[in-house]
Amino acid sequence: MTDLSSKNRQSWLVVGKGAIGLLAACQLQQQGAGVKLWLRQPAPLTVDFTALDGSRHTHHFEPWPVEQPIETAFIAVKAYDALSCIQQLQPLLAENACLILSHNGLGTLEAIQPPLKPMQQLWFLTTTHGAYIEPGYQAERQVVHSGTGSSVLGAIQPASSQTPKVAKALHQAIGPLHCVADIQPYLWQKLLINCLINPLTALHQVENGELAQPRFAAELTQLLDEFCLLAERAGYPQDKAAAWQQLQQVIAQTASNRSSMLQDRLAGRQTELEFITGFVLREAQRLDLRLPGHQQLYQRCQDAGF
Ligand SMILES: NC(=O)c1ccc[n+]([C@@H]2O[C@H](COP(=O)([O-])OP(=O)(O)OC[C@H]3O[C@@H](n4cnc5c(N)ncnc54)[C@H](OP(=O)(O)O)[C@@H]3O)[C@@H](O)[C@H]2O)c1
Repeated sequence: MTDLSSKNRQSWLVVGKGAIGLLAACQLQQQGAGVKLWLRQPAPLTVDFTALDGSRHTHHFEPWPVEQPIETAFIAVKAYDALSCIQQLQPLLAENACLILSHNGLGTLEAIQPPLKPMQQLWFLTTTHGAYIEPGYQAERQVVHSGTGSSVLGAIQPASSQTPKVAKALHQAIGPLHCVADIQPYLWQKLLINCLINPLTALHQVENGELAQPRFAAELTQLLDEFCLLAERAGYPQDKAAAWQQLQQVIAQTASNRSSMLQDRLAGRQTELEFITGFVLREAQRLDLRLPGHQQLYQRCQDAGF
């Protein structure tokens, strides 16, 4: 049973007023957790939350008090904001703070980890849940939980195979949650899907399902071949046939979705290209590999202005 007594309530800081952060914030609050938000401009926020079953719920959140130490934080921001965000939180982090970072793409942890203190924990969560902010709302946020999914949680610092205290709450908020000793293979699997679907859909301005058309087959095959070569050399080998099948499955299951990179491009926002294809190319350079398909795709995205 949910424990609503304030004595036992876990106090969560959730960063931002984005789709995944507010999805978690609303569902944490529904289970009785105390949740406050870290916003660019601190102010109370009312959120109109539409659950998967279509039911609507109103949530009120207060901003995090400037002097309160942070013990548990859920940080679901775009990859390019991750480092600066954690730097902002740093002065308030408790000695044993537990941070859960969640974003698409790779390549942020190298800079985030070193300044953390030895007792401060950093976890990474990757999710297949879908959520979006209904456009047009100004005074309050309308968040829609648009697709069910699951999440995987793994320790970054300190390396640990133990389930963290926060796992139960995360399981209810953005689960089912699978805790793993090494999250890197899961991040590479997600990267594979992201680096094939995101830049292509954003470049051609098409929904995911369009990638099933024969005109994309040769390019997708080349991108997959190159990715598998890289992943093997990086120590995260992929089964090419299984990866192709998984790609086709994602394309079919999300046929009418606009990828996050396409949404960002259409809205004129910065994309996560640097942490998806950009990361793939930086890894290739580190391992002395040439990936002409990814290189060209990256260049075309840059030429198109994102
Ligand atoms: N949405 C999905 O369905 C989904 C699914 C799976 C994975 N993901 C991934 O999860 C990550 C988050 O996605 P999202 O859709 O939730 O993104 P989002 O809607 O852009 O949310 C991120 C939020 O964080 C805020 N933020 C960033 N840095 C901040 C700071 N220092 N202080 C306060 N607020 C800050 C942003 O504010 P501003 O808007 O002012 O910058 C924005 O409100 C991304 O990597 C995305 O690719 C998303």
